[in-house]
Amino acid sequence: MQERIKELVEILNKANVEYYMNDDPFLSDNEYDSLLNELIKLEEEYPEFILPDSPTQKVATKVISEFQKVTHDTPMFSLSNVFNENEIRDFSNKITKEFPNCQYVCELKMDGLAVSLNYEKGIFKRAATRGDGVIGEDITHNVLMIKTLPLKLKEPIDLEIRGEIFMSKKSFNECNAKREREGLPLFQNPRNAAAGSIRQLDSKIAKERDLDIYLYHIPNTPMATHYETMQYIKKLGLPINPNLALVSSPSGILDYIEEWTQKRSSLPYEIDGIVIKVNDIGMQRELGSTAKYPRWATAYKFPAEEVITKLTDIIFTVGRTGQITPNAVLDPIKVAGSTVKRATLHNMDYIRAKDLKIGDYVYLHKAGDVIPEVVGPVLNRRNGSEKILKMIENCPICHTPLVKSTSEIDYFCPNKLCPARNVEGLIHFVSRNAMNIDGLGDRIMEDFYNMGIIKNFPDIYLLKNRKQELIELEGFGNKSVENLLISIENSKHSSLERLLFALGIPGIGEKNAKLIAKKYGDIDNLKNANVEELKLIPDIGEILAQNICNFFDEPANRMIIRELQDLGVNTEYLGEKVIEHEIFSNKKFVLTGTLSFIKRDDLKRIIEKYNGMVSGSVSAKTDVVIAGEDPGSKYTKAQELNIEIWNEEKIKDILMELNEIE
Ligand code: IVH
Repeated sequence: MQERIKELVEILNKANVEYYMNDDPFLSDNEYDSLLNELIKLEEEYPEFILPDSPTQKVATKVISEFQKVTHDTPMFSLSNVFNENEIRDFSNKITKEFPNCQYVCELKMDGLAVSLNYEKGIFKRAATRGDGVIGEDITHNVLMIKTLPLKLKEPIDLEIRGEIFMSKKSFNECNAKREREGLPLFQNPRNAAAGSIRQLDSKIAKERDLDIYLYHIPNTPMATHYETMQYIKKLGLPINPNLALVSSPSGILDYIEEWTQKRSSLPYEIDGIVIKVNDIGMQRELGSTAKYPRWATAYKFPAEEVITKLTDIIFTVGRTGQITPNAVLDPIKVAGSTVKRATLHNMDYIRAKDLKIGDYVYLHKAGDVIPEVVGPVLNRRNGSEKILKMIENCPICHTPLVKSTSEIDYFCPNKLCPARNVEGLIHFVSRNAMNIDGLGDRIMEDFYNMGIIKNFPDIYLLKNRKQELIELEGFGNKSVENLLISIENSKHSSLERLLFALGIPGIGEKNAKLIAKKYGDIDNLKNANVEELKLIPDIGEILAQNICNFFDEPANRMIIRELQDLGVNTEYLGEKVIEHEIFSNKKFVLTGTLSFIKRDDLKRIIEKYNGMVSGSVSAKTDVVIAGEDPGSKYTKAQELNIEIWNEEKIKDILMELNEIE
């Protein structure tokens, strides 16, 4: 019986793949159903023989109570973008400088959502979203519903693999037609529909929605090239997009782009560009990555769709720093998959440079396919009734006279108590990359502020004392208040860098916040830091250092921090602490070649732990180049510039001394 179960699982899985991938099913629907029924009966009778990759196991849906956070084994990078031939040539030139014979693989850029999968001994174990690249969310229960994804690989290996979940155009249309019949709001595009299905606690929804997946990257591939990796992925039984090409020059890349720009609309799924990857994995490792993107790959984005609509008005909004921004009010129009009613116009210089007038018809597109941007006026549609915008003199909210920035471009509301500034500051405090509190959207925050429920950061942590009052508010219920309070409690355990970013100190972004948090460890240490000391941190100059000191010198800010601490908000850095060490501290390192005893990422982590910096290219500012076997052009450059070079033995000795390796 066990044999027959095994045989049925194999036939049905093969039929599934044929059906979904090759459009050439070798079993009729009837044959498939009867074999599946046979399997279901046998499995009911002999549950001990149920195989983990049985198609029946995919059928069972699951409801989870919350998304678990998971740390990716290898960080998940996004890709840099290029938009035209020049930028493609620049990308390639940077690479050929080091590797003159570089080949590239061109692939279609699937318009879906990135996913990381883990297989253990060949069995599917886990799927996670990208999240912030380091920590994602567990979506295993929904990914199990993707019919084209095998639960068992052809080889019993451990594997971390990346790909894209997407919805075909056909499934998207069917899904929206069904929603229309049911009177539900429609999805704007297949990507949103796919993402909406994956971000569900109940996998029944993902099951109904007919999602698909293509795999395209193995972070620690055992193969020598990306092209071979793709063949390997296929050999493992995983679905890949077959439309990839190996090319040897920028003109090969351009030909591929032209081909797929033509064929794009006839594809059964949406793509938003072309991904270009260095083929040789050794070269990829040598090229490495910046903080955000690999240097060995980039994404060519198709030109944004451009539409024409009317600019009916320009209104001014006040940001959290008091900055006044003019915004275009547009006749609502659909562009690149969503309806746009507003677009930022940045400042008066921007409006003047584009010669925009109220009442103009304007070209509109989405920059990087996300942010709506007014390109310029349609001059031949002017009829003389258009009006030039006059800059306002007072804050539109608190009516305080505006002041000009030192650059003379921006205007500010100088009133620290301006309600608009405060609300924006609160919205920033709870935002995803700051304290990450779910359930306090812009509207709700504005309402809570106006109602006096939240006036400053500590009030957020006092909401739990007003639970009943919140439940009784319109639009709130027991469950949503419950979830909000949980999210607020969870945010208390955030590491210091989130709090530093959340506080909205002028000029302190996420990256700087992390560097500061790592160095100072606790907000109480940072509070008393002086400008000179802060300037020792890479990327922190005079102005930023001064901003930080000014912020902590302000008694009101000190009080807020005290209150947050009293309310249980963590103010310590929870990641790996920086240790000062004379060999590494404040020095810039560049790594080249292969080190036999340590992975490049691990060495980078250790150098950063001891307050050193690792950068990708050699310059006069580089202090030390660490060169392993077969070093690249970085080695020669280091010699030319007379930069200290350490060989494998030297770095090994240092790390042993520090007990970082055995
Ligand atoms: S490779 C480190 N290949 O595009 C390399 N990405 O804009 C990881 N994407 O985050 C990505 N199709 O979600 C790669 N064939 C493809 C892709 C692809 C779509 C997505 C992916 C990535 C995003 C970057």
